[in-house]
Amino acid sequence: MTIKTINGFSKLSKQEKINWLSQTFLGGNTQASNLLSLYWHEDSERQKRHDEFIENALSNFFLPFAVAPNFKIDGRIFAIPMVIEESSVVAAASNAAKFWLERGGFKTEIVSTIKSGQIHLNYSGQAQSLIEFFESHKKQLISSVDELSQSMVKRGGGLIDLILANESESLSDYYYIDARFNTADAMGANYINSCLETIAENFGMLASDFDGFGPNEQPEVVMSILSNFVPECLVRVTVSCPVTELAQEGLSGKEFAHKFVRAVDIAQTNPLRAVTHNKGIMNGVDAVVLATGNDFRAVEAGVHAYACRDGRYKSLSKAKVNQDHFEFSIELPLALGTVGGLTKLHPMVGVAMSILQEPSAEELMKIVATAGLAQNFAAVRSLVTTGIQKGHMKMHLLNLLSQYNAEESTKIAAVEHFKSNSISARSVAEFVASHQKNDQ
Ligand code: MEV
Repeated sequence: MTIKTINGFSKLSKQEKINWLSQTFLGGNTQASNLLSLYWHEDSERQKRHDEFIENALSNFFLPFAVAPNFKIDGRIFAIPMVIEESSVVAAASNAAKFWLERGGFKTEIVSTIKSGQIHLNYSGQAQSLIEFFESHKKQLISSVDELSQSMVKRGGGLIDLILANESESLSDYYYIDARFNTADAMGANYINSCLETIAENFGMLASDFDGFGPNEQPEVVMSILSNFVPECLVRVTVSCPVTELAQEGLSGKEFAHKFVRAVDIAQTNPLRAVTHNKGIMNGVDAVVLATGNDFRAVEAGVHAYACRDGRYKSLSKAKVNQDHFEFSIELPLALGTVGGLTKLHPMVGVAMSILQEPSAEELMKIVATAGLAQNFAAVRSLVTTGIQKGHMKMHLLNLLSQYNAEESTKIAAVEHFKSNSISARSVAEFVASHQKNDQ
């Protein structure tokens, strides 16, 4: 039996790693291993940059980098970079951008930009002793990060406050220190975590010198980490227009607005629909977050937690008609950065930032939330008019044609044919087979 485990894998060269994989998991088949090296960048310095992002990098994984043009955000025009594999997303975003360009564009507002991290504690003594200790040492704990915060403070950020929370009724002996930060143009994860660990270390040292704790009742630091729940790092985006300007697909403006608002209300009420509704929003959000080198897992986690902040998972967007005026808006918690992390390391992120005219973190929050609202508008508009599959399958046609190895002439004929015929995996397969047979 082949031994499939290995020690010291990370120490092997890239080629040695690929050879080991090929022999151990691919039965010596060279097709996959050749493909891995085929996707290396021809410029070895560029490739090295990418290899250094993570451990055990073997190759690159391509996703399309696109732009959705014609976004009017607070009067400025943007082409928004998007990295995504789903065929209809960029087309839908572009379509919604154009639609709202002609109706005043997207209006945004930063609600707040506070992020937080927690030092989680175990403490079995009297609550009052911990409170006294904390309050009498709070200033010292805050100033313990002065040095760490120097450049962040210069950029307008820093540690704002420390608050002690007593959660011992929910979990025995559980308290935490909530640290609140402003991280300026950085996403701030490293800064926040470094501050928390420094505060925790000082907390431990000061606590051991404090004589107000009983024997064996020293508070213990369990862990210190930022929170990806950022309900106070919030951006709001709105579009609005007279209902009469919404007429489309055989529906009057009033009929369209009625169905659209109803669809959003359903997503406000029914979690079964809300999750898919919000997934449509995240199609836009994630694509821009990825293109700009931000942490999409953090954004996903934070956004979905926000969607159920009231204890029930709901739509992130709202729609209403007020005195014959249609209004559609979204509120998203977004911890994003335009400095630090991958933002200055990944060359394509540099391109994305240039296309966006070097936004600040707040501007990027507005752009990302706009992409989310646009995507949501496009999806719900399709759902309440033509249905989603018509547009989706049109965009998916080229993927299906490639999947069935269609030649170029077949692809051209298929695009023409499927303008008036319905697209399915089967109908495309049949078309390719019969077209290529007729061509022989
Ligand atoms: C597909 O990626 C996204 C949609 O399902 C979103 C929605 O249903 O609102 C179309």
